[in-house]
Amino acid sequence: MVTKIIEIDPFEIDSRKISEAANAIKNGGIVAFPTETVYGLGANALDEGAVRAIFAAKGRPADNPLIIHVSSIKSAREIAKDVPENALMLMERFWGGPLTIILKSAGVIPKSVSGGLDTIGIRLPSHPVALALIDAAGVPIAAPSANLSGRPSPTSAADVFEDLFGRVDIVISGGAPTFGIESTVLDMTVPVPAILRPGAVSFEQLSQALGGRITQSQGEGAAKSPGMRYRHYSPAARVFSVSGPGAADYINEKAGALGGRAAVIAPDDFNFGANIALAYGKSPSDYAARLFFLLREADRRGALAVFALEPEAAGIGTAVINRLRKAAGERVVKTKGD
Ligand code: TXA
Ligand code: MG
Repeated sequence: MVTKIIEIDPFEIDSRKISEAANAIKNGGIVAFPTETVYGLGANALDEGAVRAIFAAKGRPADNPLIIHVSSIKSAREIAKDVPENALMLMERFWGGPLTIILKSAGVIPKSVSGGLDTIGIRLPSHPVALALIDAAGVPIAAPSANLSGRPSPTSAADVFEDLFGRVDIVISGGAPTFGIESTVLDMTVPVPAILRPGAVSFEQLSQALGGRITQSQGEGAAKSPGMRYRHYSPAARVFSVSGPGAADYINEKAGALGGRAAVIAPDDFNFGANIALAYGKSPSDYAARLFFLLREADRRGALAVFALEPEAAGIGTAVINRLRKAAGERVVKTKGD
């Protein structure tokens, strides 16, 4: 397959270019596009053949459901049923934005799109290119992150090319996402709403909106979100996710032993020594915005291992820790004080 690259300025949408990408979607093609979280790989959610092509291009297991992207609350209501009042309230409050809401499916979206489940995850993004594309296509767009399955999510068109060049019809290049980490996935089909995947809309924000009626299933409680079962976000280098009072010393000792072949992900003011320095900035939101780029960068710089200093577990930091631990697998290190 020949992959076409279309550049679209999010601040000055060229509707001719959007039409070209939207036509590809209408004709059963697959199109990578920017969102405010990460780049997505989209297809017409009503077209099972097109959706199969997404699973094939990514090498994604068929039981891992895709998120359906819409451009209005009205469209969301057409594909979901028994939508609870508080779900509508959250839509009003957090859409367009990085929140995916799991609802009962009305049966309009083929079951193969949502891994055979009776529920669907729906999200209304805020990114102008994503919204224009969904509008012009005139159909809901099923879109996972536009990376090969298991790799870090893409935060630039270049990341998408690295993984999917020759495997997709079009890549829309539209700049860097604001958040850099995927949407929060919130299950509203259970008596107490449950966060299945922490993301850019924080537990604290949702808890406030829901008057405290919310649970957060970290780790394997997240089995209900099939995507959270798989190894994820991983560069080729081994990732160690490190926290605790002695974290900096631990990193310096273990990384130092690799004689310059270890990468360290830490804030700008960290003492990186002779290690491959992957500074993320200052705040947890800087960390989220840079994390996937830095994991890919570790491979490009030939790192044998990556030692990442975890941020504080609050706000978007919780989502960063979640992704780091997924990337690390068993290599989660909690140090004790000395
Ligand atoms: O920010 C995002 O959400 C990005 C952009 C492109 O929108 N998309 C994204 O998609 O991250 P993906 O496929 O990489 O992750 C979707 C997550 C998976 O963990 C999947 O298991 C979960 O959402 N999910 C989707 N539908 C679900 C459902 N019906 N029930 C439970 N989990 C669901
Ligand atoms: Mg993904």
